[in-house]
Amino acid sequence: MNHVSIRVGTLRGDQKISFDAYVKINDKFVLYLRRGDSFEGQRLKRLKEKKLKKMFILSEDETNYRQYLKTNIESAYDSNSKKDINTRAEIIQGQQQSNVEEVFERPEDKEAYFETKDAAGKYVEFMMKNSAAANAVLNIENTDKNLAHHGVAVATYAISLAQKLKITDPQKTQLLTLGGLLHDIGHHESNINVAQQLDLLTPEELAIYKQHPKKGAERVKDKNHFDQLVTTIINEHEEHIDGSGFPNKLKEKQLDPLSIIVSSANTLDRLITFESVPKLEAPKKLMIDRVGTHPLNHIQLLAEIIKNIK
Ligand SMILES: [Fe+2]
Ligand SMILES: [Fe+2]
Repeated sequence: MNHVSIRVGTLRGDQKISFDAYVKINDKFVLYLRRGDSFEGQRLKRLKEKKLKKMFILSEDETNYRQYLKTNIESAYDSNSKKDINTRAEIIQGQQQSNVEEVFERPEDKEAYFETKDAAGKYVEFMMKNSAAANAVLNIENTDKNLAHHGVAVATYAISLAQKLKITDPQKTQLLTLGGLLHDIGHHESNINVAQQLDLLTPEELAIYKQHPKKGAERVKDKNHFDQLVTTIINEHEEHIDGSGFPNKLKEKQLDPLSIIVSSANTLDRLITFESVPKLEAPKKLMIDRVGTHPLNHIQLLAEIIKNIK
């Protein structure tokens, strides 16, 4: 029997699966969930806790799996949907996270990039119309400190921030979203633990850490399908408006305004996701400890966004 891998993130929601799902244990495929079951609640939580990214299906079930994905995402984006917003947000978040993982693993795959870009456009359009959905996505806790999940959170904070700044041109917001999703591609092959407080890194590790925007931009710059603006955001997302960021110590005037938005969103979610700062405390911490590094109105607007989440 032939098994093919699928991403766990795509299996969210209450729709019953139309295929058997396997996990691989010591080179053996073990049936984990039968067709007719769904990946709700505890089951999903257990999978996330195991940090399992991939599962397997039989190759003969591939068409069923594709159909499942299509139905799942269409129902999540359906404005007449009767499903509750949290389930819909979980499905949408899962799709975005899987797309990010796909591009992180294979940036040379043109088709995966364009699929991710297209889905980013649909995502931003929906999130800007439906603030309850944006809040529900931001409420999904990143329990396994997953880098792709962090990308989705950064993109979502950036979207909410852009909306409050009245940046609504669809082409711009699509690339802002894509840049937010993919900003940390430079960490993908990193050997250091980036999912922790930075002051726990050794000086050598910190020096490597500070190369990640440059490394990321270099990884994608020869891929002609990557939009220039996305590469710019990857390269500039750790820069600060006062020149205290890295890798190039650029200042506000030298930075793309969309990079500045992603930088503010990234600093916020890094505190929440990797440094375990409670959500409501994070903007206050930015205000006090990082004064001058991000535009003051960004911090004030992010504080408003966070307050509305719960
Ligand atoms: Fe980063
Ligand atoms: Fe980041």
